[in-house]
Amino acid sequence: MTGELRRLEETALEELRGVTSTEGLEGWRIAYLGRRARLTSILRSVGHLPAEQRPTAGQEANRVRLALEQAYHEKVEALRREEVSRQLREEQIDVTLPGRLVEPGYLHVITRTLRDIYAIFAEMGFQVLETPEVETDVNNFQLLNIPPFHPARDMWSTFHTTREGVLLRTHTSPGQIRAMRAYCPGPIRVILPGKCYRYEQVTARHESMFYQVEGLAVGYHVTMGDLKGVLTNFARKMFGAERKVRFRCSYFPFTEPSAEVDMDCIICQGQGCRVCDFTGWVEILGSGMVHPQVLRNGGYDPSVYSGFAFGMGPERVAMLKYCIDHVRYFYANDLRFLQQFA
Ligand code: DAH
Repeated sequence: MTGELRRLEETALEELRGVTSTEGLEGWRIAYLGRRARLTSILRSVGHLPAEQRPTAGQEANRVRLALEQAYHEKVEALRREEVSRQLREEQIDVTLPGRLVEPGYLHVITRTLRDIYAIFAEMGFQVLETPEVETDVNNFQLLNIPPFHPARDMWSTFHTTREGVLLRTHTSPGQIRAMRAYCPGPIRVILPGKCYRYEQVTARHESMFYQVEGLAVGYHVTMGDLKGVLTNFARKMFGAERKVRFRCSYFPFTEPSAEVDMDCIICQGQGCRVCDFTGWVEILGSGMVHPQVLRNGGYDPSVYSGFAFGMGPERVAMLKYCIDHVRYFYANDLRFLQQFA
């Protein structure tokens, strides 16, 4: 039996050397290692041999099986390598075939609105300045004339962090302090866009995360007339020359005097709807002349310099511009909504 095994091994290996294809290799495997192969029946019959022959025959049969299996695996690998180099040699890329279409992405409607806002203010000489979303209580409130325990803090439901005195900014107004401290005593004309956070119930007009675009101009002889001119120009450029704008007296601790700017509600044409709280008007921004103390906190002498500031909500702007009746759509990631702005 040992002799037969040797011959079998030799023939098998000899034949394997001549194999050049995957199909040939499979045929070889079935012939020499398959269920009906001679080697398999020898292995099965070892048990029936007389006890003294069994160990030698068994060992030899197993050795041959392992040798053939190893040779088989090496051949598989060799064929695979040959195939790869054949492909590299023979297959060429047809550069004349049409490419596969990659669908282009598009900007989120809020990103587009922000860019529209930047463009309008850029024409009026305002630069974009980015300021941090995580702020100190000092910048977000105190330097804006809102000391601890001041009732005005109720206007901004705040997300505090576990670090004392550090919070998520509730508005972009702390950027005013940063801008003034960076540019003092030079003149300033900046817009400060970015995300803000408030601990608030979601309604048709409120989200807990939203954008604001703050504006700040500081210089000699900056007046309320400049403020009205800049904001009216903005509203007309953004929504069309026929839009109605109204300035309403208001209160903000960091401006004096303060005004809220409303536009007629495009969604209901001033008739009253959910978006405008059934008033026909939608507030698009808060504004005012920079409070003397805030100028001082920024490093400017209020007897020499003056300034105006405003803060608007680009979501509101987009809602009006595109007649969207719920703020929640912007960040719900519903493609049926988002794709309408492709
Ligand atoms: N920071 C105010 C808010 O979030 C908005 C605002 C009002 C900004 C008046 C201003 C301003 O710069 O002058 O409600």
